[in-house]
Amino acid sequence: MSDHAAPQSDHARLPEPGPALFAAPLRRPAHVGDDWLEPAQRDYSQQEHATWDALFARQAELLPGRAASAFMAGLERLDLGRGGVPDFARLSTELIGLTGWSVVPVPMLIPDHVFFWHLANRRFPAGNFIRGSDSLDYIQEPDVFHDVFGHVPMLTDPVFADYMQAYGRAGWKAMRHNRLKALGALYWYTVEFGLILEAGELRAYGAGILSGPTETVFAVEGKSPNRIMLHVDRVMRTDYVIDDLQPTYFVIESFADLYRRTAERDFDRLYRTLGPGFTYANSAVIDLDDVLHHGTQEYALRGGRESGAILV
Ligand code: PHE
Ligand code: CO
Repeated sequence: MSDHAAPQSDHARLPEPGPALFAAPLRRPAHVGDDWLEPAQRDYSQQEHATWDALFARQAELLPGRAASAFMAGLERLDLGRGGVPDFARLSTELIGLTGWSVVPVPMLIPDHVFFWHLANRRFPAGNFIRGSDSLDYIQEPDVFHDVFGHVPMLTDPVFADYMQAYGRAGWKAMRHNRLKALGALYWYTVEFGLILEAGELRAYGAGILSGPTETVFAVEGKSPNRIMLHVDRVMRTDYVIDDLQPTYFVIESFADLYRRTAERDFDRLYRTLGPGFTYANSAVIDLDDVLHHGTQEYALRGGRESGAILV
């Protein structure tokens, strides 16, 4: 996750980037400390490795029949369950061989443009810490389990891997139009909370869903949330919550279709027609929607996370 919800400043005067920008090699500027741009991966304690194992075992149990087949295939190919927090160097070597992606450790949330720059160079920035064993269920900051278990398996899929890179390249234009929030909503409803139809069955591919047990079940099977076929113009006008289960999930037909609707389309006109704020509430169902499931929203109506609402 990156923090697209942060207040925006006016970037309309940024210059055209020029072709060299995204080709820049990852080199540490002399004045920057060793631990900032590309920190080394942390050494994890035995207890922290055990936390990874516990989280892994819990998800592995829930994923069959709920996670997209591309995700399951990635999990297996990278052997993320061999025990303990994966070593990023080894992981990157394997991933480079598959789709040319690598994984770089970052201390916490990083600025949007740095995030975009990594993605545009097929580097996935992953948290350099793991949640405490006392907070297995919920953390606000993306840790190594969310980032590596949740995101990295999908990077083994060639089309999804290209989508992620195209997304990184898309950042600059969105920034110049002051429409980072809209582009952030697209990331949110695809990379973090996306669902896909596989032979007519719903499956999750979003990392925010697949890195937690509650949302894995809620997103795919719950009565509460809406499930609506993804249309880019609609999604980029839709608000989102970052600290509770989603009231709405958007569903794609295939990764190739997602790529066509986003990477192969020029967003210039769309950015010019978007208002600065979101148009639709995150629980809205509108006339134009192709609705697979009109949710009861019972979870949100009962008060959501804070209230300890019962999941439906
Ligand atoms: N094609 C979009 C544009 O012209 C960029 C984009 C690519 C957006 C991939 C999202 C994902 O800005
Ligand atoms: Co994430």
